[in-house]
Amino acid sequence: MSRVLVLGGSGWVGRAVVRQLVAAGDDVRFTWHTNERVAGSLPGHPLRVDLTCRGAMRALFAELDDDGWTPNALVHAAGLPAGLAVAAAGSPGPGIEEAIDLAVRIHVTSTITACNEMAARPLAGLRNVVIFGALDRTQSFPMPAHVAAAQGGLAAAVMALGHELGPKGFRVNVVALGLLDGGAADAVPPAQIEAYKRFSALRRVGTAEEAAATAVWLVRENRAINGKVIGANGGI
Ligand SMILES: NC(=O)c1ccc[n+]([C@@H]2O[C@H](COP(=O)([O-])OP(=O)(O)OC[C@H]3O[C@@H](n4cnc5c(N)ncnc54)[C@H](OP(=O)(O)O)[C@@H]3O)[C@@H](O)[C@H]2O)c1
Repeated sequence: MSRVLVLGGSGWVGRAVVRQLVAAGDDVRFTWHTNERVAGSLPGHPLRVDLTCRGAMRALFAELDDDGWTPNALVHAAGLPAGLAVAAAGSPGPGIEEAIDLAVRIHVTSTITACNEMAARPLAGLRNVVIFGALDRTQSFPMPAHVAAAQGGLAAAVMALGHELGPKGFRVNVVALGLLDGGAADAVPPAQIEAYKRFSALRRVGTAEEAAATAVWLVRENRAINGKVIGANGGI
């Protein structure tokens, strides 16, 4: 049994991850930010966190320490809320600077600080960290530049974290998803979704269950993949 911390457990993908891990017998704690209704309906132990706050990860791990609970695996399924992702795109005003800050904090800052907090705690054995993202290195897809920059930064971050933390037993990887049947995809215009389906090898969008199954496999089984971006998009 793994002790798994799921960031963004209340989200479309995160809730599927929480359910699948609990069903597999893992001990799961997960975070939520605004969606108390979904958080309260899930198995596992909910923790409220705002990843845009400086020190959020330090405070979260201190809370877990107080409970005597140290995760040996982490799944990062938090993402910039869809409204924020699109609202500031292309704007010359101050809104875009704020949106860039938030995107970097939610995707990049939280990833690096979570890894550092885990690495600072004594725990032997295999420790898989799985970060959901939206870009592998070959995809070309229209999306807001600030979201692309934050998500693209994850590829470089896990490459470095894989080296930094590999000697401590960590495997740190990004799972780059294609469009799914909900969540962040709700902000994507219908014409773009239709185009995606046309070019997808599966001729459809993915599901949260499929995305979660990839993360669950990595958490429970992965030994050799480290510092990589793994495309899990059905072939796009
Ligand atoms: N869905 C897709 O089609 C798709 C495609 C490609 C990549 N992805 C990637 O997969 C990941 C998950 O996406 P999703 O579709 O599950 O997104 P989602 O349904 O919008 O869920 C986002 C999650 O992030 C949390 N969150 C948002 N702002 C937060 C903050 N300030 N502090 C803490 N938590 C915060 C939300 O919490 P609350 O709901 O409680 O506020 C929620 O749990 C993201 O990295 C996304 O880019 C998704």
